Amino acid sequence: MKLFLDTADVDEIRTVARWGVLDGVTTNPTLYAKVGGASYDDVLKEICTITDGPVSAEVIADDVEGMLREGRHFAGLADNIVVKVPMTELGLEAISRFRAEGIRTNCTLIFTANQGLLAAKAGASLLSPFVGRLDDINEDGLTVIRELAEIIRFHELDAEVLAASVRHPRHVTEAALAGAHVATLPYKVFQQMVRHPLTDRGIEQFKKDWAAAQAAART
Ligand code: E4P
Repeated sequence: MKLFLDTADVDEIRTVARWGVLDGVTTNPTLYAKVGGASYDDVLKEICTITDGPVSAEVIADDVEGMLREGRHFAGLADNIVVKVPMTELGLEAISRFRAEGIRTNCTLIFTANQGLLAAKAGASLLSPFVGRLDDINEDGLTVIRELAEIIRFHELDAEVLAASVRHPRHVTEAALAGAHVATLPYKVFQQMVRHPLTDRGIEQFKKDWAAAQAAART
């Protein structure tokens, strides 16, 4: 399973890249607004120097020509840019046009398996169901991941299911078990996945025992 970082913060991306576990990055307007400063283009170009994996850049336009214009521009910034397009009728049309041009897309704001099926048929290479936002409204985000992953495998469609809107480490485990090809995680969730109190306690104890053994060896 691939793990993407869900952020526009280049320091976070550099950190997780150093751990050797980073397969790509997803950004969106909200994540870009959090970092501010540089232009979206400059942030994307810098991210693409850190990772060779897919880097999703989201279009803002909601008409086909506007989405195509923005997406072609993003695709020109680096080879590993994937254009993020919302799940709408016009979004499907744009995805299909991007596919014909050889530009990879990530269909975002997917909340049902049927939306994901349509995006895959239109030609999106990544399908992003929003797990956390479904859970927030008392629905089961992981059910959409499981259903869509089964549909993609059963019908051998050329697309990957990307679990997005991940809120906590348990979502990652469940998405992996449900067959998601990718999960995109906030930096905090990557950190939470690393940590365990017994790991911390174990390291502390080994240090104490080592110091005691060293002291005993000196006497
Ligand atoms: C990633 O592609 C999505 O835009 C992101 O995971 C959405 O997360 P949120 O629901 O926490 O805003």
